[in-house]
Amino acid sequence: MNPIVTHEALKTCQAAAIATAQWIGKGDQAAADQAAVTAMRNCLAQSPMQGRVVIGEGERDEAPMLFIGEKLGKGQQDTPAVDIAVDPLEGTGLCAKAAPGALAMLAMAPRNSLLHAPDIYMDKIAVGPAAKGAVDLERPVADNLASLAKQLHRGIDTLTVCVLDRPRHQEIIQEVRQAGARVQLIADGDVAASISTCIPNADVHMVLGSGGAPEGVLAACALKSLQADMQGRLLFANDEQLQRCQSMMPGKDPKRKLNLDDLVQQEALFATTGVTSGNLLPGIKQQGDNITTYTLLLSTQGQAQWVCEQHPILDKTATAWLTLPFTN
Ligand code: FBP
Repeated sequence: MNPIVTHEALKTCQAAAIATAQWIGKGDQAAADQAAVTAMRNCLAQSPMQGRVVIGEGERDEAPMLFIGEKLGKGQQDTPAVDIAVDPLEGTGLCAKAAPGALAMLAMAPRNSLLHAPDIYMDKIAVGPAAKGAVDLERPVADNLASLAKQLHRGIDTLTVCVLDRPRHQEIIQEVRQAGARVQLIADGDVAASISTCIPNADVHMVLGSGGAPEGVLAACALKSLQADMQGRLLFANDEQLQRCQSMMPGKDPKRKLNLDDLVQQEALFATTGVTSGNLLPGIKQQGDNITTYTLLLSTQGQAQWVCEQHPILDKTATAWLTLPFTN
């Protein structure tokens, strides 16, 4: 991936996480989300790129957002033209409760290579690299578990399937348990859960169920970089959503099953900075006059980087979190 794009992705996620930190545990999801959105927007607006948001989180829950179609970057002609998928604060509820696993995240890819869709729900199935090709969104849960167990050389009873704890997932949960596997229920954060299928000690073998479509595209960028596997299918609550989606992907069936290469068509970069500490990354830390951030950068071209960086606090007032030296 272009080094400018990598640098901008890193800086933007760091800025969003830092801006959000003042809202950790304050019980105000909207304020936390707004802080992350504003920081991302300000940072990307200054970037030497021709950026365009193709999918982003916020419409579904009427939260602050970077608008789908929004152009970001200084836009000089010779700068990289990129598609951007954003979730400035993945796990707004986690952040508001100071619970583990809130993350600032985005993905960038060359123009026209990320799924362009509204912020609607998506049915998802994700597995780690060792299970690539073993599951299919269209197969019954029990068949997928049998195939997964065979490919991973494990008993079904040792498999753990991670599912968002939502009433709509009752049937999936029952099917997984009936097949003999374990269910790990999570309050929020299906992107981190999907990535955890690639981490051997995380003991998560599959992620199932519906969540946000933007989170689906973000997870796909990360999983493609880690040579893992994922499929999705957009879910439409009404005709209006379907028609809007059709206008965003002319000539394609919006209801089709989306393979990893449909979600991310070319190379892509995924970046995420910890807000609260979780399984994937430590959260923001303030020590004396410094703020420390932890960021994970994954590229489909094979690079994985953990970046721990200290940022000096310039202005030690109430707005100190927002006034860091993020300049080009
Ligand atoms: P937020 O960033 O809006 O807090 O989303 C968190 C999340 O749990 C995602 O990880 C997931 O894809 C989505 O919400 C599921 O949506 P819902 O909470 O409506 O079931």
